[in-house]
Amino acid sequence: MSKKILVTGGLGFIGSHTVVELQNEGFEVVIVDNLSNSSEAVLDGIVAITGKKPIFEKFDLREKKKVQDFFQKHTDITGVIHFAASKAVGESVENPLLYYENNLGVLVYLLQELTQKGEANFIFSSSCTVYGQADELPITEDAPVKPAESPYGNTKQVGEEIIKDTCKVNPQLKAIALRYFNPIGAHASVEIGELPTGVPQNLVPFITQTGIGLREQLSVFGDDYPTNDGTCIRDYIHVVDLAKAHVAALQRLITEKNDTNYEIFNLGTGKGSSVLEVINSFEKVSGEKLNYRIAPRREGDVIQAYADTRRANEVLGWKAKSSLDEAMSSAWQWEKKVRSK
Ligand SMILES: NC(=O)c1ccc[n+]([C@@H]2O[C@H](COP(=O)([O-])OP(=O)(O)OC[C@H]3O[C@@H](n4cnc5c(N)ncnc54)[C@H](O)[C@@H]3O)[C@@H](O)[C@H]2O)c1
Repeated sequence: MSKKILVTGGLGFIGSHTVVELQNEGFEVVIVDNLSNSSEAVLDGIVAITGKKPIFEKFDLREKKKVQDFFQKHTDITGVIHFAASKAVGESVENPLLYYENNLGVLVYLLQELTQKGEANFIFSSSCTVYGQADELPITEDAPVKPAESPYGNTKQVGEEIIKDTCKVNPQLKAIALRYFNPIGAHASVEIGELPTGVPQNLVPFITQTGIGLREQLSVFGDDYPTNDGTCIRDYIHVVDLAKAHVAALQRLITEKNDTNYEIFNLGTGKGSSVLEVINSFEKVSGEKLNYRIAPRREGDVIQAYADTRRANEVLGWKAKSSLDEAMSSAWQWEKKVRSK
């Protein structure tokens, strides 16, 4: 069987790290990316790490005809890992149709092609955002999906439903939805990492950009939550660990180890860290003092979310290995490299 895998959004943050792990495991990778949130220079980083250049096709997956042409050309694709999406929560509130078109329209186009192909393996980037504020911690995959707080969150919920419904009537299609907790960090080589455009939406790039002096101050939204130190708790997972989970998920489908043709796995470390713990970790590994202040609570913030990882550990045979300090250290090395250019 061919080992050719389509990675949509393969030049983005999680996609690029996954391409590296796929190539390390002997897969042949074809990346499709429109560079809307990435740069072609990421390819150089991938080559520097793996010594192999993936095939790269630059086009916008919202162009249905181009998606059709792509599958006509690459008839030997055996798996698709679908990262390409828009991911800024605030922007999704401002421009919901962009999010529904890019995150759901494209998903439909890909599934239309795959269901025509016959046998196909599909991995979908979902998110712990589907759980909202879960009633029980750690969060298992069986926790109820809560009403989405934003159009972005809704695209992940509806995306999962679209895949589930499609799998139900297409037994030859095998799919896994991976619900990521909070991916952070960069590759140890410092050749690839996260490249947020504009003001970072996530905590860790905001911390490293503040540490390097690009942002003046970090606001910690609320220190009076019912947690150990009053700040919100998340499950931060090193992006390389996350990338490896995609290879494990793909292998599961290719080797037909899957129990049903649509499965869901949480991807996290199982450990929650508070905002202040993340700041402390940053200060420890960087030797820098971070300029931050406590600000009022922010609307819509979940108080605590961390994964029950047993299903991924036991069924997928994958476990996150890196500590928060290791992930923070890699994020800091990456920030220093990016800003020194
Ligand atoms: N980073 C996170 O915190 C996080 C958490 C949970 C889920 N996710 C999901 O994981 C996936 C990858 O996230 P990321 O952080 O790597 O994002 P990213 O923005 O770094 O990567 C997405 C890539 O897709 C490309 N892209 C977007 N729309 C496209 C289109 N129409 N055609 C072709 N290419 C397109 C972008 O140029 C970019 O390179 C997304 O689906 C995201 O929603 C991310």
